Amino acid sequence: MFKPIGFPGAMLSEVLLVSAPGKVILHGEHAVVHGKVALAVALNLRTFLRLQPHGNGKVDLSLPNIGIKWAWDVARLQLLDTGFLEQGDVTTPTPELVEKLKEVAGLPDDCAVTESLAVLAFLYLYLSICRKQRALPSLDIVVWSELPHGAGLGSSAAYSVCLAAALLTVCEEIPNPLKDGDCVNRWTKEDLELINKWAFQGERVIHGNPSGVDNAVSTWGGALRYQQGKISSLKRPPALQILLTNTKVPRNTRTLVAGVRNRLLKFPEIVAPLLTSIDAISLECERVLGEMEEAPAPEQYLVLEELIDMNQHHLNALGVGHASLDQLCQVTRARGLHSKLTGAGGGGCGITLLKPGLEQPEVEATKQALTSCGFDCWETSIGAPWCLHPLSHLPGQPSPASPGWPLRGAHDTAAPPRCPFLDYFGGCNSPLCCPVGAQLLTLLERPQPLGDAGRALQSQRWDLQRHGLRSASSEAS
Ligand code: MEV
Repeated sequence: MFKPIGFPGAMLSEVLLVSAPGKVILHGEHAVVHGKVALAVALNLRTFLRLQPHGNGKVDLSLPNIGIKWAWDVARLQLLDTGFLEQGDVTTPTPELVEKLKEVAGLPDDCAVTESLAVLAFLYLYLSICRKQRALPSLDIVVWSELPHGAGLGSSAAYSVCLAAALLTVCEEIPNPLKDGDCVNRWTKEDLELINKWAFQGERVIHGNPSGVDNAVSTWGGALRYQQGKISSLKRPPALQILLTNTKVPRNTRTLVAGVRNRLLKFPEIVAPLLTSIDAISLECERVLGEMEEAPAPEQYLVLEELIDMNQHHLNALGVGHASLDQLCQVTRARGLHSKLTGAGGGGCGITLLKPGLEQPEVEATKQALTSCGFDCWETSIGAPWCLHPLSHLPGQPSPASPGWPLRGAHDTAAPPRCPFLDYFGGCNSPLCCPVGAQLLTLLERPQPLGDAGRALQSQRWDLQRHGLRSASSEAS
């Protein structure tokens, strides 16, 4: 018999609310798919998943950002021969398996790619994780994201991490880390490793051959170095100010990754050295960031800028540039600033390093110039001291004494833990880098009043009330 979840005595004990962040890659995108190093930081734009067990014999999946609502009969799914899901702890989604899942899903032929991949990743994780249960659970799942889709900020990874974390928790493969009175908490290192492994499989369904860096940073949070599944924290990165710009040009990571692979196969003598050079750029950046911890010097910023320029040229040579990204680089270059794409490229997002000493009017003028190109632009920071807390928990590092660790306020280590779900509605709209990774939240009874930023984002917001979530917007209206 499927058991309701949650901690005893809690008002909303049957609702599970999971959140995971997006990411920015500093260096190493694409090269990381070929075994090279990538440096990445978590972003304070998050995905939220609400899971509610229900008794109507259905599995409901709603993804309001992309207008998806799907429902399957549990009894029908139960009768399926899921023998195609190999036995074992974490199964790998082969192309044949994904084809079988398409039959199970009942996806129409004209189904949009994004929709079909999101549904397939869900079904894959649901059937794989929950099949150990005597009966598949009847669940209502809603996933909503602050992350722009297909912009290189790790929206699919945050989706996979949320799904993996929620399904593993509901199936009691990992414990619910929330104790009485907790607003938010995280899982133990071992639990996060399991979440990350499953999230990687979800990413494989969506992207085919991902490196795993996106799900790793979404699971662990903070600033990290990733190479072939090995994750370690960046040693005390200095606080760097950056502009994060979304060109709003849609692109497809799977296609871009396949394009680089084809170029490597076609011109191995030319492309392999580019990947090696990007690897060296990541290592040099890591070294310089490490040196900058104490007292960052102007020469070190010059090195970071050179590394950004070189990598951007390499990424163009790999074929993942785009006219919009060239425009971004030109606009910032004209103001003495250096930019590169972040993520898969082909449009999507770029980052621009802001040197210390840059006057705020100059920053504002640059943001204005980028906005005039039709881009969205945020000023944000990487490597503030508080981001080191979650990283003490990374694999190969000492675990905290108690399971999980207390969540620090994103802006102030001394602040009491705040629920980022409420931060969103309360008006925290800075996509500040390096926040914590996957976490479990409690829905609070008294949401905060809607702030300016909350109102600004309202256009993207779906009707939480409709999905049974209390929100500040419902109070405000
Ligand atoms: C996408 O965020 C990063 C890529 O390197 C792909 C991957 O690592 O799987 C382009």
